[in-house]
Amino acid sequence: MERNDARSTPHYDRSRREFLATTAIAGAVLSVAPLAVAATVATKDNDAKTNGDTKMKTRNLGTLAVSTLGAGCMSISANYGPPAPFDQAIKTIRAAFENGVTFFDTAEVYGPYTSETLVGGALEPFRDKVSIATKFGFNLSSSGGGLNSRPEHIKEVVEASLKRLRTDRIDLLYQHRVDPAVPIEDVAGAVKDLIKEGKVLHFGLSEAGPETIRRAHAVQTVSAVQTEYSLMNRDPEHNGVLDTCEKLGIGFVPWGPVGMGYLTGSLSGSTKLDPKADFRSGFERFTPENLAANQPIIDLLKQIAAKKNSTPAQISLAWLLAQRPWIVPIPGTRNLSHFNENLGAITIALNTTELSEIDTALAKLKVHGGRMNADQMKIVEPAT
Ligand SMILES: NC(=O)c1ccc[n+]([C@@H]2O[C@H](COP(=O)([O-])OP(=O)(O)OC[C@H]3O[C@@H](n4cnc5c(N)ncnc54)[C@H](OP(=O)(O)O)[C@@H]3O)[C@@H](O)[C@H]2O)c1
Repeated sequence: MERNDARSTPHYDRSRREFLATTAIAGAVLSVAPLAVAATVATKDNDAKTNGDTKMKTRNLGTLAVSTLGAGCMSISANYGPPAPFDQAIKTIRAAFENGVTFFDTAEVYGPYTSETLVGGALEPFRDKVSIATKFGFNLSSSGGGLNSRPEHIKEVVEASLKRLRTDRIDLLYQHRVDPAVPIEDVAGAVKDLIKEGKVLHFGLSEAGPETIRRAHAVQTVSAVQTEYSLMNRDPEHNGVLDTCEKLGIGFVPWGPVGMGYLTGSLSGSTKLDPKADFRSGFERFTPENLAANQPIIDLLKQIAAKKNSTPAQISLAWLLAQRPWIVPIPGTRNLSHFNENLGAITIALNTTELSEIDTALAKLKVHGGRMNADQMKIVEPAT
């Protein structure tokens, strides 16, 4: 398999600029507020084992059953530092499968292209046992850049993604960002056509607001919504996204489940992020000042983790799993020991008292720094 170090191509810089300029992110709520309903929600997973000797169970994203924890495959290839060495990347993805993970998340724009190529190569031997999610929504090959969810573009992107993923179908196809220039009904209609052709099995939306979700779902059933959600960003609890998913029977996939790395406790005010290779260097929450100012959140997580004989990363993931039984976090890692640590989250049960103690303690702490960049923090609704 070809190893394409996208950082050395003009695509890398353009994709980074485009990503930063065009990713419209839902509004930030900077102080962490308690979620009353969380303490009463059961975390009942399906009993079915997936594969191997694992405690992994499954959860449903709409009608798509996937492992309780998925694998985010972005940072292993791009965006949070240089790509992982190819052998290590393959080994990590296959270890995830061997440990029961059957849900792998990628996108055309990661690299661009290199994450899909990696995922396709790593999973080819087990293709029938896993679900692959990928995303469209950007102009990457043409000179214009920016968002593009025009139906003809979606169909072209899917053909190219299928080739890179070495498969004949995409289990879950997300629109990566809402395109205000294209009615969401047209986007859903294009995906519906692809589903009829068997090239796509399920439809998803990423960073979409409640109105977009409802309109899309009326044309083509939406199986999953993917949005940043973690102990540091609880917007989906307040902006109607989780409620809309609940009402419509749509699953929810939190990206950034360990706070883009921060909630693991491995970053601090003295961490130096490479501005050439690490997107986070341009995000508000990752300025040296905010990395230092948010330390009380990590201190709290460490206290909770000590009580549960676990780690901050595990508590962050267990907390997400406890919010709703149809939430499937997709932590990203290139590191086998981090993967094994994260996997441990599925065995940590937080009871209602513990959940409400976490909420109470977090409510007293301020989260410093919004999501990504200030100009990317509003919900975009597409044209009608
Ligand atoms: N829909 C969207 O717009 C969108 C946006 C961003 C990401 N995503 C998807 O969501 C996935 C996850 O989100 P994310 O990567 O942004 O954030 P994340 O999973 O919260 O954080 C990933 C970072 O955390 C570090 N990490 C993970 N586990 C760790 C552990 N146990 N100890 C120490 N460090 C650990 C990883 O570094 P190491 O490699 O060193 O472990 C990596 O740098 C991505 O892979 C991608 O598939 C979607």
